[in-house]
Amino acid sequence: MIKVAFYDTREYDRPAFERFGTQQDISFRFLEAKLDEDTVELARDCDAVCVFVNDTVNAAVIEKLHAYGVRLIALRSAGYNNVDLQAAFGKVHVVHVPAYSPYAVAEHAMALLLTSVRRIHKAYIRTRDFNFSLNGLTGFDFHGKTVGVIGTGKIGRIFVNICRGFGMRVIAYDAYPAADSGIEYVSLDELFRQSDIISLHCPLTEETRHMIGRDAIERMKKGVVIVNTSRGALVDAEALLEGIKSRKVGAACLDVYEEEADIFFEDRSGHILNDELLARLISMPNVIVTSHQAFLTEEALSNIAETTVNNILSCFRNDGLCDNELCYRCGQMDRCRKERKEKCF
Ligand code: NAI
Repeated sequence: MIKVAFYDTREYDRPAFERFGTQQDISFRFLEAKLDEDTVELARDCDAVCVFVNDTVNAAVIEKLHAYGVRLIALRSAGYNNVDLQAAFGKVHVVHVPAYSPYAVAEHAMALLLTSVRRIHKAYIRTRDFNFSLNGLTGFDFHGKTVGVIGTGKIGRIFVNICRGFGMRVIAYDAYPAADSGIEYVSLDELFRQSDIISLHCPLTEETRHMIGRDAIERMKKGVVIVNTSRGALVDAEALLEGIKSRKVGAACLDVYEEEADIFFEDRSGHILNDELLARLISMPNVIVTSHQAFLTEEALSNIAETTVNNILSCFRNDGLCDNELCYRCGQMDRCRKERKEKCF
């Protein structure tokens, strides 16, 4: 039996992990606590820890895991910026889930967009209150409008196809345009100038941080709708708020927010929200915020659990090789031994 301490457990995590784990002789200890220097002790008698985006896996935590004999950190996410890979190298193996459901995210982007433009969120509240007035609910047709897609990877391309199904004209910008994709690529400047709707599907890097800022918004069409299901810091939230207040931005649909780390995923309904900017954005009639929910479908949860269980099995059974292993040296490909079908260390 492989024993795994499962940190930061949410109610929606358990069914799929219990299902796949039991089939494979893996026992998950579901913990509500996030992993950090105070809670690492809870993994003392375990073979592995399973962590998510807000767990802290720094050098001090890794040192303790190593001392307890924990041999694997299994991320149940694609991103791994919360793990000190350099500190882990040579001590504890690290695996992740590179992809789980691009459809989930692309479909959520369209769900937000339709909700916002057709005012479904307002209509829902009105009719529950037996208010059947249509005043203020006028939307616009998607058919014939131009949508600008930034980042045409797995999620972006699915979003492109969904938009085409609505009869929209799709233009795109990508730092590495996909050859033979049939997508009309334009410069970022052209995309800003031509698009009625802009949807972000590129990763957060130093280059893309605040790519939607004051200058970009200035170049956009009046009334533009901005959709962000990618990473919060792609958008300068202060500039967005200004754009909304000045009526330049027609609407914003946000599944991510730059300062979401201590806010999203938690029930804060009984508390005073300390983030003035987020509170102001949420108060706007043309802003919809969801709490990093785009990935949350049955299929994605099942894929995350299945891949994580397979990652754990690969590391503890057979030859210990795992395709989804991350290591410090993978960032330095000339020295990566995995290329030669060896273990990372
Ligand atoms: P991907 O790696 O398949 O595609 C990313 C695309 O962005 C690639 O085509 C790449 O060439 C392009 N790109 C890279 N640098 C760029 C730049 N400077 N400007 C424009 N394009 C650039 O990634 P995938 O799976 O499509 O995911 C996209 C993003 O979605 C992720 O980076 C992640 O931040 C976000 N995401 C959000 C989730 C949510 O629940 N809200 C869940 C999963 C992913």
